Amino acid sequence: MELPVFKLERYFARYEFKVRHLLCSSDCESVTIKDLLAFEAGAGDAFENLWLGYTESQGAPALRQAISRLYDTIGPDQVLVHSGAEEAIFLFMHAALSPGDHLIVHWPCYQSLHEVARSIGCEVTFWEAREEQGWSLDPDDLADRIRPRTRAVIINTPHNPTGWLMPRDEFVRLNRMLDERGILLFSDEVYRESEYSADDRLPAACDLSHHAVSLGVMSKTYGLPGLRIGWIATGNPEIANRMAALKDYTTICNSGPSEFLAEIALRHRDRLIRRNREIITTNLTILDDFFQRHSTLFSWVRPMAGPIAFVHLSDGEVDTFCHELVNRNGVLLLPGNLYGDRGNHFRIGFGRRGMPAAVAALERFVGSRNS
Ligand SMILES: Cc1ncc(COP(=O)(O)O)c(C=O)c1O
Repeated sequence: MELPVFKLERYFARYEFKVRHLLCSSDCESVTIKDLLAFEAGAGDAFENLWLGYTESQGAPALRQAISRLYDTIGPDQVLVHSGAEEAIFLFMHAALSPGDHLIVHWPCYQSLHEVARSIGCEVTFWEAREEQGWSLDPDDLADRIRPRTRAVIINTPHNPTGWLMPRDEFVRLNRMLDERGILLFSDEVYRESEYSADDRLPAACDLSHHAVSLGVMSKTYGLPGLRIGWIATGNPEIANRMAALKDYTTICNSGPSEFLAEIALRHRDRLIRRNREIITTNLTILDDFFQRHSTLFSWVRPMAGPIAFVHLSDGEVDTFCHELVNRNGVLLLPGNLYGDRGNHFRIGFGRRGMPAAVAALERFVGSRNS
C-alpha cells in the first residue's frame, strides 16, 4: 500500500494554527467542553467520574443508540463508531475493495475518498461535478462509467467543496439503480443536517438500500472535530463486520471521554445545528454582498448546504492569489489544485464566527491588488 501526500491536510498542517484568519475551514464553529456539559444537568459530574478504561470496540451502546436516532431503519447494532470519518473511509475501502476492483468517485472530493482505493490497487474513475450545471452530477455520466468490475460508487452530498445537494428524486433513483446492480454505495453524509432549507434534506442512503453505507461525523455540522468521533450506519452486516475486524488493527476502540461528549451533543444536536445555521446565514449575507461588490474578480455557485463553497477567480492565477493573500494579509483560502482542480477555484469557509473579520482582510488585499 503506497499512499501519496494528502495535499489538503498537509496544507492545513502548515497554516491552520499559524495564520490570523482562517477563511477555508470545512467545519462549523466549535464549543468548549464546559459549554457542552452545561446542556444537561448532572453531565459535568458524570464526566468527571468517567472510568478511563478501554471502551466497547463497536462504540458505546448509548452513543450508538443516539446515532441510530438520526436514521429511520438503523438500530444501534448497525452502527460502527470510528475515530473521525477519516478512519471509517480508510476501513471501508479496505473492507470492501480488492485489487483490480473498479470504483466510481464523485469529484472533486476529499482526497481519501479516491486515494485509499488507488493504494489498494483499484481502478478509479471520477464522476465529475459540472460547474455549468450548478456543480450537479449527471446521472448519464454515471451510467457511462459503470463496468462489470465496478464494486462501489462514492458520493458526497452535501458536497465538499461546492455545497451542492443532490435532488431527492435523483438520490432515490441512484440508490435504487445501484441496489439493483449489486453495487455498493458509500455515501459521505458528513454535512447532513446543514441544509439551508430543512425540506431539502436527503434521506440517509442506509435507509434507502441495504447495499449502502452512510458516513457520519461530529466534526462538520455540529462543529466538534476535536472529539474525533465518526461512524458508519448500514444494513449491510458483511461490510460492517469486516470493518469492525479491521478496526482492531487501527484504533481498537474510541476515546471514552469523546464518546461521552458526543452522546450529549447528539442528544442536543438541534441546539448546535440552530446556532451554526445562524452563523452560516449571517456569514452568507456578508459573502453575497462581497461577491456582488467584486463580481469581476469572483463568481460562485451559491451553496445549498454546509459552511463551504468553491469560488472561481476570474483574474489571475489562484495559487499565486492564495499565496500572496496569506503572506501579506494573513488570510487562508484553499486553492482548488489541492483537490486536483484545474479550473482556478478556491474553497472558502464561512461556518466560523471570525469570518466577517477574515472577509474584511480579504477585501483589503483585493483593494491593494487593484491599486
Ligand atoms: C467530505 C469529507 N469527508 C470526510 C472528512 C473527514 O472527517 P474527519 O476530519 O472528521 O475525520 C472530511 C474532512 O474534511 C470531509 O470534508
